Amino acid sequence: MRRKIVAGNWKMNGSSELVTKLIGGVKSELSAVDKGVEVVIIPPALYLRDVQQEAGDSGLKLGVQNVSQYESGAYTGEISPAMVADVGAEFALIGHSERRALFSETDETIAAKVQCALTHKLTALLCVGETLDERDAGQAETVVCGQVERALAGVSGDSWKQVVIAYEPVWAIGTGKTATADDAQQMHKTIRSLLEKLDAPADTISLLYGGSVKADNAAQMFSQPDIDGGLIGGASLKADDFARIFKAI
Ligand code: PGA
Repeated sequence: MRRKIVAGNWKMNGSSELVTKLIGGVKSELSAVDKGVEVVIIPPALYLRDVQQEAGDSGLKLGVQNVSQYESGAYTGEISPAMVADVGAEFALIGHSERRALFSETDETIAAKVQCALTHKLTALLCVGETLDERDAGQAETVVCGQVERALAGVSGDSWKQVVIAYEPVWAIGTGKTATADDAQQMHKTIRSLLEKLDAPADTISLLYGGSVKADNAAQMFSQPDIDGGLIGGASLKADDFARIFKAI
């Protein structure tokens, strides 16, 4: 059985006030969701404890937007996977396209982050996706498969259980343009076939779609056979919108 996951990535947005308002609103809608669905909040790390406190025993899960590839020590500004696990967060976004494009993260760094996150029993939520130029040039599948392969090269055995992949076409992030459900399904299927070739338990690995998911397109995305949930940016900042999305799964 594949995990069903809807995760809200707040990016560099939020405040103490938003935590109270938003988590309060989200919590009150959770009872409408099937028990097996994992609803994850990924706030700026500074607010993890606040979100946790506000979430109480609601069952909401927590994640971080980035982790270090290093264990500990003189890495000013970084947060280690051990610290993330220590405060009770379970998910680490790794390789988000904004990290790749704006903070020069390479496939090599991303692979090291995945390894370190897995060592500390976090779920590594690996983000992959092509730019519009790459798609127009007919290279979308090659680019995405290359990213998956290089990021997960060191994964084996039971660690696969902690891997989740989010396909997020770069041109769909924050733009209001979504991939069609057919195109998204096609890419998810391609990723699953690649995982099979990599000897991963492909049928058990959750693949999420991200990129301008909204309340009105979520159900169609989530009903595709190879799409197991979503990674939500902008629409996760409003309790009502986010709730309508996770209730669509
Ligand atoms: P968006 O962002 O939903 O605002 O397009 C998705 C993401 O960046 O994960």
